[in-house]
Amino acid sequence: MTTYAIIGGTGLTQLDGLEIRRSVDIETPYGAPSAPVLVGEYAGREVLFLARHGHPHRFPPHKVNYRANLWALKQAGAQAVLAVNAVGGIHPAMGTGHLCVPHQLVDYTSGREHTFFADDLDQVTHIDFSYPYSEPLRQQLIAALAAEGYAGSDFGVYGCTQGPRLETVAEIARMERDGCDIVGMTGMPEAALAREIDLAYACLALVVNPAAGKSTDVITMAEIEAALHQGIGKVRNVLARVLHG
Ligand code: HPA
Repeated sequence: MTTYAIIGGTGLTQLDGLEIRRSVDIETPYGAPSAPVLVGEYAGREVLFLARHGHPHRFPPHKVNYRANLWALKQAGAQAVLAVNAVGGIHPAMGTGHLCVPHQLVDYTSGREHTFFADDLDQVTHIDFSYPYSEPLRQQLIAALAAEGYAGSDFGVYGCTQGPRLETVAEIARMERDGCDIVGMTGMPEAALAREIDLAYACLALVVNPAAGKSTDVITMAEIEAALHQGIGKVRNVLARVLHG
């Protein structure tokens, strides 16, 4: 049976309903992960859980040690990663509360430790990243969304920005021209690191605000927090369905 790990993003620093059996502190060659890896039972199945930003939430997107996080999950026995990400909506169909299972991404980040293949190499390694997400895992998320009857998209291009500031209207307009449907700050280098160490990886993105310029208002943290509060239950139900099979 596949061992799944959930990486919880903003609004999901802990997984209600997870019966924690062990909390494992893992040191990696890249330093400490954001939090201990929790091993527990969720939806009747053993699962690993890691809070991407720590618990409580303390690492902003550009300070997350993505390498340590992915390495720790692999070391703890994960084979597949379900990543939860809060995002802004760019595509008109991706309004607040919408769930999206992206199929592609564009990386706008800079200066993050983004590869395991940097030092002490026997040979230079280039991973194939044409399709950044695991298709079987994506299909599981899409089936779970449908089964729950939630408004969702089985496609989407995730544009990953550096943060922690939100984008300008012109930046979002450029991202739209680039083909991006949603915008977040944590999708990369996480997805690529997972591929480098052979972890199947897919993303469940919850839209928590219209991206800059996509509504008449400015974006407030209060709006984002309210949308997270409202939407996170749906995220939990989708994850439970995937794990339950
Ligand atoms: N931009 C980038 N990251 C985000 C946003 C956004 O509008 N909303 C939530 N995460």
